[in-house]
Amino acid sequence: AESGYDCWLEYRHIENASLRENYLKRCASLAIIGGSPLLRTAGRELAHAISSMLGENPKDEAVTLIDAGAKGTIIVGTYGSSRLLEPLADVYRFDELGEEGYIIHASEDDCIYLSAASDKGVLYAVFHFIRLLQTGQSIESLRICEVPRNGLRMINHWDNMDGSIERGYAGKSIFFKDGRFIPDMSRIRDYARLLASVAINAVTINNVNVHRQESRLITDEFLPDVAKAAAIFRDYGIRLYLSVNFASTIEIGGLNTADPLDPDVTAWWKEAAANIYRYIPDFGGFLVKADSEFRPGPFTYGRNHADGANMLADAVAPFGGAVIWRCFVYNCLQDWRDRKTDRARAAYDHFMPLDGLFRDNVMLQIKNGPMDFQVREPVSPLFGGLTQTNQLLELQITQEYTGQQRHLCYLVPQWKEVFDFDTYARGERSTIAEVASGRLFGRESGGIAAVSNIGDDRNWTGHVLAQANWHGYARLAWDPGLSAEQLASEWIRMTFGLAAEPERVVKDMLLSSYDIYEAYTAPLGVGWMVNPNHHYGPNVDGYEYSKWGTYHYADCHGMGVDRTVRSGTGYAGQYHGPVVERYESLADCPDELLLFFHHVPYAHVLKSGKTVIQHIYDAHFGGADRAAELVAKWDSLASRIDADRFGQVRERLVHQAEHACEWRDMINTYFYRKSGIADEQGRVIY
Ligand code: GCU
Repeated sequence: AESGYDCWLEYRHIENASLRENYLKRCASLAIIGGSPLLRTAGRELAHAISSMLGENPKDEAVTLIDAGAKGTIIVGTYGSSRLLEPLADVYRFDELGEEGYIIHASEDDCIYLSAASDKGVLYAVFHFIRLLQTGQSIESLRICEVPRNGLRMINHWDNMDGSIERGYAGKSIFFKDGRFIPDMSRIRDYARLLASVAINAVTINNVNVHRQESRLITDEFLPDVAKAAAIFRDYGIRLYLSVNFASTIEIGGLNTADPLDPDVTAWWKEAAANIYRYIPDFGGFLVKADSEFRPGPFTYGRNHADGANMLADAVAPFGGAVIWRCFVYNCLQDWRDRKTDRARAAYDHFMPLDGLFRDNVMLQIKNGPMDFQVREPVSPLFGGLTQTNQLLELQITQEYTGQQRHLCYLVPQWKEVFDFDTYARGERSTIAEVASGRLFGRESGGIAAVSNIGDDRNWTGHVLAQANWHGYARLAWDPGLSAEQLASEWIRMTFGLAAEPERVVKDMLLSSYDIYEAYTAPLGVGWMVNPNHHYGPNVDGYEYSKWGTYHYADCHGMGVDRTVRSGTGYAGQYHGPVVERYESLADCPDELLLFFHHVPYAHVLKSGKTVIQHIYDAHFGGADRAAELVAKWDSLASRIDADRFGQVRERLVHQAEHACEWRDMINTYFYRKSGIADEQGRVIY
């Protein structure tokens, strides 16, 4: 446990005796009404949590006994399954809870009711209740009613069957090894438990880049194993999806085409889908990366993405499946000399003309920004652009461009900005949270997906503090209204216990870390100043003369990309007013995105009052200093955090501090040499 394997579900014993007494009064016995797999999962978890935190095994009481009026019982079950739960109908509307909502209710006679309209809701109620105990909340007069804000709350794994993980920074796959499933699936079960505790309800287990071996996951060769994994997830209320190869008909089907309008192709996919559902009746569906970074797709046959997605959607529709189609489509063979083509425009240009043409069981998965998970990007204008298409927001938990889990970078503040961004698609308060959920445009389905940051490292995420990103993502998927402060506190208490000092220090570290990371890396929204391929560490021109559409255009006068309608690529025009005007205007464009939208001289004065060049120097000197302070802050907790986790984190923080100096010196030196403008404070630049 000390290593961090249980993450936020360690259920450490509650030291404070009066708190424990108080809890015990209401948790003396347990009644689980019903025996479905989900309820069994819920019951086991609750019994384990209570005995481990309160040090006493609650007796598994028979329902009749409680009926006779036992005090201090936790009563767990779906509404309608027992007379015991009937009084709750006076207080709550069970018909409004849907498939996943739940209630938590404390009665006058010290009973606690964990109930819902469905088994899954009950499971979520149980985990929520456990969280209340873990975070030291009062359970005396609970009146909680929760309904998720997003229907689909998904994790995407970029795992390959050879065991490697694309953009994985915490070891190898927990699913695959040497081209097959790992026979011992117990770690998948432990993983499913962690996911269910934060109400994740969907998962893809293989990389969106579906290579040769992975293409065969949908065949009889591997479906028995996929079905085993799906059964484990099912016990935790999670549906399994697979990433599929759009050219499967060629790769594994023996056809010579993948043309989505070819009857043989259509028939092949219908049979493939039927076969999958014979193994996995509740299979979620397909995730597809097509016509993107050398993956096959409908373009080869002169078809569009609606043709491609709809063909697959029709194959899974009879079984209740969905197709999640990614919008990460752009020209990755661009000529850097060509300043007209703008990668940022690509997703919108490709998909806007298709709005309204997708089947109801298709969702378009859209990355939060128009480029690719940079530290700072504006929000994709497809959100708010598309009005007649189901959408799924895609975030990246794995820290590809944000320090690869060697740097501390708590991403919840970044994600909050995304959720809160106002698209003005239907006037004010047309936020991304409202769009992605489907609410703004009255769509049936919607939600949020994110690329996982876990691997087979003992602590799952490499950096122990990166567990907070995983937790925070899932909690925001349930309710984007939760604040970064709340989520950080919650995670710290669940992970490190209720002591005040660790909470204060770790919270400060987490909440400042995104800001710090941004300060010592690429400035003012420009992005991409990283080493090619692995994307770790500074390299200002790493992507400058490349084919990937990723440029900063720095010369001796200035830098940045002109994406205005007036004089640039026109990307800014993809937003609704007044967002267009804000980004279009040099005066109104927020500092942190200035170089994303404008090419300016180094002497251009920011809203902050500093010139661009001085901002670069100050941010990088300041950022590196603050990275060093993180080590000192963590060191102050040496005696309060177990040695194993303390050491794991410390080692990474020390590396981060050194690496931040590398970033600082390279970026500062580069721009000093380009601009010839000295630092006002005369600090060391090489
Ligand atoms: C990024 C990442 C790739 C990934 C791609 C995607 O470009 O570097 O590894 O395949 O995103 O999201 O499809």
